[in-house]
Amino acid sequence: MYRAIRIPPEKGEEIREKAIAGKFLDITRKIRKLQTKEGAFLEIPVIEVACEAIEGFPVIEQENPEFLEIPASLKECLKGSLSETELAQVPSGWHILGDIIIVSIPENLENKKILIAEALLSMYPKCKSVVRDLGIGGQFRQPERELLLGSGTETIHKEHGCFFKQDVTKVMYSKGNLEERKRMSLLGAGETVVDMFAGIGYFSIPMAVHAKPEKITSIEINPESFAYLKENIRLNRVEDVIIPILGDCSQAAPEGEADRVIMGYVGTTHHYLGQAIKALKENGGILHYHETVPENLAMTRPEERVKKAAELLGKKVEVLETRKIKKYSPGVLHVVVDARISE
Ligand SMILES: C[S@@+](CC[C@H](N)C(=O)[O-])C[C@H]1O[C@@H](n2cnc3c(N)ncnc32)[C@H](O)[C@@H]1O
Repeated sequence: MYRAIRIPPEKGEEIREKAIAGKFLDITRKIRKLQTKEGAFLEIPVIEVACEAIEGFPVIEQENPEFLEIPASLKECLKGSLSETELAQVPSGWHILGDIIIVSIPENLENKKILIAEALLSMYPKCKSVVRDLGIGGQFRQPERELLLGSGTETIHKEHGCFFKQDVTKVMYSKGNLEERKRMSLLGAGETVVDMFAGIGYFSIPMAVHAKPEKITSIEINPESFAYLKENIRLNRVEDVIIPILGDCSQAAPEGEADRVIMGYVGTTHHYLGQAIKALKENGGILHYHETVPENLAMTRPEERVKKAAELLGKKVEVLETRKIKKYSPGVLHVVVDARISE
């Protein structure tokens, strides 16, 4: 558990100094600025404390803690075990999901991977395992990962007030989609929603927890992801909102019932546009269509594909926004088109 005190920005320097003097500042994490409905705040990371307030400010459990990337420190830990050439190739960043460290290690450090994992684990005493990332692929978007050190690969990651239980060697969890998961948590109040590529509940869970739709039908084809989807529905207590369906959304999606359809999949998403439009109510609704696209086509191809699919079904399209989610690979962007489909 990572704790922080939440303070008004103008108190930042004063409280930071007090935290250093009082030896409760956690120097492994960043001081973070955030904007909430209540205004702007700073989160000062603090070491594990038993009290509920420090200097009169609340101690909270920090979601998505941001760690200071201290390559010098990982290199420092490895000095003496690795040559100068090897030290220069040591990773400078890694990703923490729940209590698991996920790191990419270059092939030529293969025989030093356990040493690197030991060094990382010593830097994050609250973490239990280190997993090597070797890429992602296939229809199920399953990662290729190797447990290097530690006691397991299943964890519960907490984000934006939601719990995501997962096995990091079996399902993906993109840190680049963080903002999109948050954005989905603000949409769908009172609506009927279909999440065609639900995974472990990346979008369905935040929407169900925060926006309170009437119903979300969440479809997932991979039995391993589906098992976590069901578990996450239970963990987040949204059994009354989400109906999970194991199956292929091109056959399992309902027709004519949704106010909103989420298409959170990349690669061949356009093949499913017809089914997504049919899932919307007769008089229409909103589509969130994801696509990976070369940068120079990002503002044209995804919109054109939505328009073409709608035209084939005799529907009208109003593109509300095309937004960049992240850089997917060199020269390729992951974008999402928000479009209103109508009669
Ligand atoms: C991994 S998620 C996408 C991730 C998500 N955009 C995020 O926030 O990270 C896509 C999911 O769609 C599922 N999937 C792929 N084809 C499908 C289909 N035809 N029907 C239902 N689910 C499908 C995959 O198994 C995968 O779990």
